[in-house]
Amino acid sequence: MISVPLDKKKHERNRFDCGVEALNNYLRVMANQQSGKDNTRTFVLEDEAHPEVIIGYYTLTMTAIVLDALPTKLQQKHQNAGAGGLIARLAVDKRYVRRGFGEWLLIDALKKLLTASELVAFPLIIVDAKEGAVAFYEKFGFTAFLNQPNKLFITVANVRVSLAK
Ligand SMILES: CC(C)(COP(=O)(O)OP(=O)(O)OC[C@H]1O[C@@H](n2cnc3c(N)ncnc32)[C@H](O)[C@@H]1OP(=O)(O)O)[C@@H](O)C(=O)NCCC(=O)NCCS
Repeated sequence: MISVPLDKKKHERNRFDCGVEALNNYLRVMANQQSGKDNTRTFVLEDEAHPEVIIGYYTLTMTAIVLDALPTKLQQKHQNAGAGGLIARLAVDKRYVRRGFGEWLLIDALKKLLTASELVAFPLIIVDAKEGAVAFYEKFGFTAFLNQPNKLFITVANVRVSLAK
């Protein structure tokens, strides 16, 4: 399996349905525009038999780190850090859920952010989880920010160790 940048000429954005309208609309309307402005990058996993069909997607960008919402130990360690990598969106089409594609997309997103961090250095990877998906991210080692139950983080150091295994 391989993820590729969203290509509006090739991929059937309108057929994608993950059950969350905001995530469907982002893919249909915003993802390509935002990439054109260098604000975000969206990668899709194609169905190998029908490459125009999108199994799932994720969107990457950067975000500010709110130090106060981190555990004390991490606040001290990262007091000079400004930004973290952000998995802004991640979704799997309803037709393909519970078959391991969400996990594959998350690991793929983490690999890309780890590579990016080697070039521009940031200490945290953050995710904005939709309600109902928090446990999905916790399963992979993410921790919720204090007072922000739907926003979670994992350190790049932890990702580096996990991906090396
Ligand atoms: C959440 C989502 C990405 C999961 O995708 P998926 O392809 O069904 O996930 P996988 O099949 O790879 O599941 C991997 C593991 O996570 C678990 N899991 C899947 N969805 C979960 C959820 N919502 N909560 C808790 N655990 C979940 C699976 O049981 C599986 O565990 P196992 O290996 O022990 O069996 C998908 O359901 C989705 O797109 N939902 C709608 C949009 C959304 O909420 N996006 C996420 C936040 S922006």
